[in-house]
Amino acid sequence: LLLLLVSPHSYGEKEEEDEFEEIKRSDFPKHFFFGASTSSYQIEGGYLEDGKGISNWDVFSHTPGKIINNDTGDVADDHYHRYLEDIELMHSMGMNAYRFSISWTRILPRGRFGKVNKRGINFYNKIIDNLLLKGIEPFVTIYHFDYPMELETRYESWMSSQMQDDFVDFANICFEEFGDRVKYWMTINEPEMVAILGYKKGNFPPAHCSPPFGNCSIGNSDREPLIVMHNQLLAHAKAVSLYRTHFQEKQGGSIGITISMQMYEPLDQQLDRKAADRFLAFHVGWIYDPIVYGDYPKKMREILGSELPSFSDEDKKYIKGSLDFTSINHYTTKYVKDCFHSSCTDEANRPINAFTETTPYRNGILIGDQMGMPGLYVVPRGMEKVINYIKQKYPNQSIFVTENGYSMPTSDGNKVEDIVNDWKRIKFHKSYLAALAKAMRNGGHVRGYFAWSLMDNFEWIRGYDTRFGLFYVDHLKTLERRPKLSAHWFTSFLGGYPLNF
Ligand code: NOJ
Repeated sequence: LLLLLVSPHSYGEKEEEDEFEEIKRSDFPKHFFFGASTSSYQIEGGYLEDGKGISNWDVFSHTPGKIINNDTGDVADDHYHRYLEDIELMHSMGMNAYRFSISWTRILPRGRFGKVNKRGINFYNKIIDNLLLKGIEPFVTIYHFDYPMELETRYESWMSSQMQDDFVDFANICFEEFGDRVKYWMTINEPEMVAILGYKKGNFPPAHCSPPFGNCSIGNSDREPLIVMHNQLLAHAKAVSLYRTHFQEKQGGSIGITISMQMYEPLDQQLDRKAADRFLAFHVGWIYDPIVYGDYPKKMREILGSELPSFSDEDKKYIKGSLDFTSINHYTTKYVKDCFHSSCTDEANRPINAFTETTPYRNGILIGDQMGMPGLYVVPRGMEKVINYIKQKYPNQSIFVTENGYSMPTSDGNKVEDIVNDWKRIKFHKSYLAALAKAMRNGGHVRGYFAWSLMDNFEWIRGYDTRFGLFYVDHLKTLERRPKLSAHWFTSFLGGYPLNF
């Protein structure tokens, strides 16, 4: 029955068949990493347990009206108590890698202003040891959106250069405590989401924004995201420098930073080409140009002038070349339109948006919108394009696709059975993997692929309503993990042993 359900012919959408290539594990190199991704706040729960401090996300999710249904991460998937079961799930699926993040407040409840919490360190030691015992390589994100609230109240977190020192201090403890076993580090997850959602659109903490976003008056949405990014980039660079000086040789690991990399194409091949380049410079180049080449893209300086912070010569020494691999989270492809020749919203016309506007991709789409995230179109060939882009712009880097996944909402009247019979998610992963394999055949040096996410979890402002998991989690009652069809598909793709449910 299972085979029948996941066979391509059962989808019955003939015109889309050319998007759909059959894909096998053997299309990827033997030592390729296949795994799932998660992050601490989204799955752990145990938010006051064993000495953990209060984070920015604890405070934000407890503020009424910020999150759908006023959901919080207090319990989340209760991974804090169920981590062994979760590791067993990955093992039985045949995964050989797992990407997760360290909760800053479990290790340093008050940042540099308090003591190290040994019980927090023990928790991650147990995770890492059990992963290794099962032959699963840990890929560790040091910071994935959650930091000690005290750093916000004391000096406004990423708005201050003091946050760089706090981050380096935290990273140092991670390298010291876990670096003997962790060989793949990512300093920061999606720094642009922190900058844009936290300081421009106001839907991530600390929820700064200015009109037209939200109902708010604090903040300067043209300038603050630039400062926040600058501090994150320098924090990353200094942590990498510390790792290279004191740990790398002895521990033999490598380090990078994870960016959100969607693909952006010109809406009109002629009129909008420059706009698409500009948009990519403002989103990908904003992070990778300093890290690979030592400075922000020229286009950004041209448009933003002195609003864009500058790197001193000393900073440049740290930042240039501060990565051993690229790590990209890829979900969708969008069109870009040039505001210099077409009419755009006031918002798009601001310099920080590079005078561009994006619209969803409607050409060659596969299964429409991601159901849980309107505006995220399913465009598998975008995967091939991002890999080609990285290969051209930042050559000689090996690449990890550290997130790629498909979402469905619980609302919309979806019943549990609909959510569990997620044939669309299978189709999504198969087609994106086929596009990835194609990019690799054309010389893309990709070394791993991680599905977002192992299980349904706290999807930030969408709470538990948006579900990205290969496993279904009943957050209201049992917290039991139930494999969706996609978990069974991954198991057969990876040659794991049949999930016993
Ligand atoms: C990117 C983020 O890293 C992750 O936290 C989030 O849940 C997924 N994308 C899906 O939105």
